[in-house]
Amino acid sequence: MHCQGIYLYAINKYMKMIKYGEGLEGFFKWKNPITDDEHTMYLPTEARVNKVIQCKGEDWFDGKTILELGTAHGLIGRHFEKLGATVSYADARQELLDSIETDSEKLCINHNDEWSFNRKWDLIIHFGTLYHVKNIYDDLRRAFNHTDEMFLETAVNSLPMPAPLFRQESMSNVHGAPGEQKKKNCRVFNGFDQWEAAFNDTHVEEYLDEIGKTYTRYDDADLDNDFGIIIPNEVYRRDVYSWTLEDVHPKNPMKPVKFASIPPNYVHFRRFWHIQTPK
Ligand SMILES: C[S@@+](CC[C@H](N)C(=O)[O-])C[C@H]1O[C@@H](n2cnc3c(N)ncnc32)[C@H](O)[C@@H]1O
Repeated sequence: MHCQGIYLYAINKYMKMIKYGEGLEGFFKWKNPITDDEHTMYLPTEARVNKVIQCKGEDWFDGKTILELGTAHGLIGRHFEKLGATVSYADARQELLDSIETDSEKLCINHNDEWSFNRKWDLIIHFGTLYHVKNIYDDLRRAFNHTDEMFLETAVNSLPMPAPLFRQESMSNVHGAPGEQKKKNCRVFNGFDQWEAAFNDTHVEEYLDEIGKTYTRYDDADLDNDFGIIIPNEVYRRDVYSWTLEDVHPKNPMKPVKFASIPPNYVHFRRFWHIQTPK
């Protein structure tokens, strides 16, 4: 079996093994608007949800209000609804909000614009979205106007850099039909074909210190997962939280790198924080 074949075999084997609540949740079809290819995307939610529940305790949720930012298909908030919370589902993409089957509130919020509501939620869930936005500081500032408690989860860049690289709206390199203008990349809402973070965990933490928040970071192996995105015949992604700088960039160049990506498959280095405003 050739190398890619072995991966696909492993993916298929694991896909069948993934149990998601009462069935297989979290898989959905996604059409690449440039190539028209259909991909299967898997958004792993359970480990992150379990971590939130472990931190707060199951009883905490009953009667609480939660704003879930960048919800996509609403797969995370529904776990908290089951525990008695009232969840407001937010995303910039109205078509995603429309696809969520719920009577709960849905809010179309674009993190690249100023947004504000004259109210606060008991908790904000901010998962998998910070690395898509233009300016991480503006994004966090707006969110903290609306809560004193947040669980923040995001991909981060493992390579130390002095400051985040703020992104500009960009055009895809992929052309449409011959002679047609380059298409604006619309894989994610904000127009960036960017699946990697342009900032480090230290940038987030320095900002939290600056605005006076307390936080705990969970670098726990029980958050790690084997699959984030599965694009048949192309790529899969593994999300890792339990990494250290030494694992990924060892001081001794002879030391093997832990969690190395084997192209075209790759590893997303991620972080998970519980953040609070001190009372
Ligand atoms: C990787 S998905 C994360 C889904 C879910 N929160 C999770 O962690 O599994 C990223 C989500 O962020 C949303 N998003 C990207 N850019 C955004 C922006 N500028 N404003 C609001 N949402 C945005 C996308 O529409 C998508 O639903």
